Amino acid sequence: MSSRTTLSRIVYRSLAKINMSAPDGSTQLLNIVRTSQKRNEFSVITSVLLFDKTFFVQILEGDKPAVHETFQRICADDRHKDVEIVEWRDINRRDFVSSLALFERRPENEGQFVKFGLSEMLHRKRIKVGAVQGLAMALQAETLSKRGIELFT
Ligand SMILES: Cc1cc2nc3c(=O)[nH]c(=O)nc-3n(C[C@H](O)[C@H](O)[C@H](O)COP(=O)(O)O)c2cc1C
Repeated sequence: MSSRTTLSRIVYRSLAKINMSAPDGSTQLLNIVRTSQKRNEFSVITSVLLFDKTFFVQILEGDKPAVHETFQRICADDRHKDVEIVEWRDINRRDFVSSLALFERRPENEGQFVKFGLSEMLHRKRIKVGAVQGLAMALQAETLSKRGIELFT
């Protein structure tokens, strides 16, 4: 069996500094997503970015050095602030398939955000990593299923 490098996962929460009510709010968000997708593809990072219009929660998975290097760049980005690590650990396998999947809180997925209790949790100090992971996986499964892809976990 071929040897594999150590995989790492970082989950963090931050306060967005982009203003979604501003005329260019969506463009600012799209710029973050486009750059991130390109760079993550290059570094073989898989990621989910949850955004409730106030807070970002991101899950980053990949080779340990790539994840660390990417996270350092993210921390220095002035489009958000108060970056707070929720979990940082080594993992055996990835749970996500996209270089970066953005899930904005919208009326159509409000039910999922509420089900996993993320809405209230984001505004409190303690975030449960299981809830973040559960919500991200449910949203991913929904998106993939629409494309006819069913992941076996
Ligand atoms: C909420 C948020 C999430 C981001 N996620 C990523 C990411 O997953 N990967 C990445 O390379 N850059 C991400 N970025 C962008 C980086 O902060 C940085 O702007 C980008 O990597 C380009 O870095 P450079 O200007 O040093 O080349 C994110 C930025 C924000 C605000």
